[in-house]
Amino acid sequence: MCGIVGYIGRREATPILIQGLKRLEYRGYDSFGIATVGSSIEVFKKQGRISESEAGAVSLAGCIGIGHTRWATHGEPNDINAHPHIDCRGGVAVVHNGVIENFTELKRQLIERGHTFRSDTDTEVIAHLIEEHHHGDLLEAVRATVPHLRGSYALLAVAAHDRRIVAARDCSPLVLGIGDSELFAASDMTPLLDHTERVVFLEDGDIADISADGVEIYHQGEKVQRPVELIDWCVEDARKGGFAHYMLKEIFEQPQAFYETIRAGVDETVRNLVLSADEVTLVACGTSYHTALIFKYLAESLCRIPVRVELASEFKYYTPPISGLAVAVTQSGETADTIAALKMAKAHNCITLAITNVQGSTITRVTDGTLLMRAGPEIGVAATKSYIAQLAALMQLINIRCGGVFDEVLSHAHLAIGEVLMRDIQDAVALCRGAEHIFFVGRGPFYPVSLEGALKMKEISYVHAEGYAAGELKHGPFALLTPVTPVVAICPPGSTYGVMVSNIKEIKARRAPIIALGVDGDSELAEIVDIFIPLPDTHLLVQVLTSSVVLQLLAYRTACALQRDIDRPRNLAKSVTVE
Ligand code: AGP
Repeated sequence: MCGIVGYIGRREATPILIQGLKRLEYRGYDSFGIATVGSSIEVFKKQGRISESEAGAVSLAGCIGIGHTRWATHGEPNDINAHPHIDCRGGVAVVHNGVIENFTELKRQLIERGHTFRSDTDTEVIAHLIEEHHHGDLLEAVRATVPHLRGSYALLAVAAHDRRIVAARDCSPLVLGIGDSELFAASDMTPLLDHTERVVFLEDGDIADISADGVEIYHQGEKVQRPVELIDWCVEDARKGGFAHYMLKEIFEQPQAFYETIRAGVDETVRNLVLSADEVTLVACGTSYHTALIFKYLAESLCRIPVRVELASEFKYYTPPISGLAVAVTQSGETADTIAALKMAKAHNCITLAITNVQGSTITRVTDGTLLMRAGPEIGVAATKSYIAQLAALMQLINIRCGGVFDEVLSHAHLAIGEVLMRDIQDAVALCRGAEHIFFVGRGPFYPVSLEGALKMKEISYVHAEGYAAGELKHGPFALLTPVTPVVAICPPGSTYGVMVSNIKEIKARRAPIIALGVDGDSELAEIVDIFIPLPDTHLLVQVLTSSVVLQLLAYRTACALQRDIDRPRNLAKSVTVE
């Protein structure tokens, strides 16, 4: 949540910051702001989205600057609570991503010492603390400030008359971009892609002194070296490329995301972790939780290995007895709950593995091994190609445990994903756009697929949707079925087909309209439902993928029909870095 960006070099900072913030907007879009440094600090900040503002007309002078796009935690979204925040005298400016948990106490103490606060944010205490410790050296001031902060932060600070940016991180992401006599800092790599491919990932506890000539990094008072890494994403990957929305582009990139993740394979460390595990616990949130559930169904039935899946946000407060391999599934690698859960598993002596899309992300610094999925940057808030790439990664783990029996299936699955991208779903969209409530049902691995279908639908169309195990509907939700409550049923052939057809008939008897996903040529199913969407008749693993893609498209097209803000749904942010 929240995106921060910094620039120092020979060019004017403002346009670089604004462009960077536009790239980071998916992390939060309540308000935005920038500050540049000269003999004084100039600040511009505003409620609303940078992409819809007149930010292009902002012309703060200076070759040093910091910027922020906000997802509000403390204080409502307005001009005053927008970052950057400044100290009493306007000599220090700060942008921050994270939450300062002890800010109430710090604020009270600072007010007692005579400081004047302007905003309701937790961040403003940082500016005032730096002010107190600033005796001409910004690095020393930040060093003296951070021990007072409890919680999470990635912050950038600048001071008048000081030609540097000081950065610090703890439990929130921060990456530096190394250019030619210029340096960049950002919450993630997307704003850096325009300028450089050389990056340095800061570690928790690091403080960086950034000037145009280079960067010096300190950890617990000692100067340290962090490796310069090369990013393998390109700038085009982070652009819309002619699609109406990032989400649609990312849906269409799924064959490639799946293929590339399979092609990249699994390194020896991860292979050994998987082969030696006698039980597996997965921790995840949201969409990633759904892919973990799919893994459970497939791995337990195909590999006969016990798998438990835990919501990361619950796991921290209820730690079941676990051992073996703990896997964090997280697109961003920055989800606070998932990181906390994984650390908890580590404290229980589990061997740990991260499945993530983001090279160098926080989770990769915590785990014993990393399986990097190859989805490329995912900008739309709704997870799509990262979901498919997670499934590619998780299916590979199953394949390893099963001695490679799915090699053939996995190497061709991307073709089937490509096949369903152009499915005609207009009738289904017409039904869903008029609905107030929609149920999604499936059995076995198609139950988590239905959970994901419902999440996508509510997240971007704002139509209330629930995913259910098909057999559970009659244990309560049947009371809600009416002729205007569509039920989307996933009904591929296999052991659950017969019982799914019975469930569909029961739903039909309650006069709820049914949209069914089944295999091409299934005339029996097509006849009993209202709308039939055919899927290629392939392996079960592939049907998990193709049905998921159709449900993403159903949510997308419904949201378009309802004129929703597809890439930036209300109240959400891409990366949930607060618990
Ligand atoms: C789904 O579309 C969401 N964007 C959300 O549920 C997401 O999957 C969740 O916040 C977890 O994110 P992560 O994979 O980056 O950890």
